[in-house]
Amino acid sequence: MKMALFSTKAYDKHFFENENKSYNHELIFYDVHLNKLTAPLAKGVPAVCAFVNDQLDKETLEILAEGGTRVIALRCAGFNNVDLHAAKAAGMTIVRVPAYSPHAVAEHAVALILALNRQIHRAHNRVREGNFALDGLLGFDLYGKTVGVIGTGRIGEVFAHIMQGFGCRVLAYDVFENPDLVSRGVKYANMDTVFAESDILSLHCPLTPETHHLITDETIKRMKHGVMIINTSRGALVNTYALIKHLKSGKVGSVALDVYEEEGDLFFEDLSNKVLQDDIFARLMTFPNVIVTGHQAFFTRNALEKIASTTLNNVAVLERGEKCENEVLPEGHLRK
Ligand code: NAI
Repeated sequence: MKMALFSTKAYDKHFFENENKSYNHELIFYDVHLNKLTAPLAKGVPAVCAFVNDQLDKETLEILAEGGTRVIALRCAGFNNVDLHAAKAAGMTIVRVPAYSPHAVAEHAVALILALNRQIHRAHNRVREGNFALDGLLGFDLYGKTVGVIGTGRIGEVFAHIMQGFGCRVLAYDVFENPDLVSRGVKYANMDTVFAESDILSLHCPLTPETHHLITDETIKRMKHGVMIINTSRGALVNTYALIKHLKSGKVGSVALDVYEEEGDLFFEDLSNKVLQDDIFARLMTFPNVIVTGHQAFFTRNALEKIASTTLNNVAVLERGEKCENEVLPEGHLRK
């Protein structure tokens, strides 16, 4: 099938072209984001491939549908950026890559915890400048600490296992309990208990109307003093204003974010020659106890291979007129 891929980088092209040797789809790569202004580029193209910060709102979907696009192949797990009802009304099928590498994201969350706790980001800079002083680099043993996991799906489960390996007590909240985790000693509790008892809180639930601004002024007040908050899921789970307020007061001890509510204007681009326009993000960057990575948790070779092969296979399955197990249904429920 002919497919236009938006928001692509050289690495996307590399992995998609390599995996496409087994599929022979006709691929057109665009580096621009997909939105209502760029949607006409896909005129006459039956499949469009989009990424996390592409805007698949009603207007964009209608333009794509008018141009003949019938399939939206998301090369990511989350689908919070798609108006599923508008897609259905436009007669489009949405497919995604539900699990490309939960390990990639879970391991990145752990990397952030370790870096933040032992201040690796600061130590690295100090040593390069010949400063070997340890003041300000004091961390804590992870062993014996309580780690709260919000969302124990594919990524949250792997994350919980890794943290158990450090000797942490893992406390979890999810709308569904995972029996495997319970049998391995993870304790489920209500969200308030997880907030109140966690030394480290890591978010692994999807962004939905229910989880929007899960971390806000009110919920932070219910957390332990000095809590470490890790978000590798979606930026809008966290109210950044509240985070800054409580970082300033010391209530929040440290923060690592791989995602940010307004990341669409920043992440995945080299803006090093430009003046940063986002004052909230600029404030976040002033804290010594904050680490931000630019939505790179997924970014492993293994994950990119799986993303490309699953996306190309999703499109091949639909081209053959078969039902795709990775279809996202309008209600947001998944086929499997
Ligand atoms: P998943 O669908 O396997 O697991 C999500 C879990 O969250 C499920 O167990 C679900 O029951 C739970 N959940 C749903 N609503 C909830 C609520 N209101 N409160 C608590 N739990 C709730 O998804 P997976 O693969 O584990 O991914 C999780 C999230 O990670 C994705 O939605 C995506 O936003 C993010 N992600 C981030 C990446 C990155 O590079 N930073 C890469 C891939 C995913």
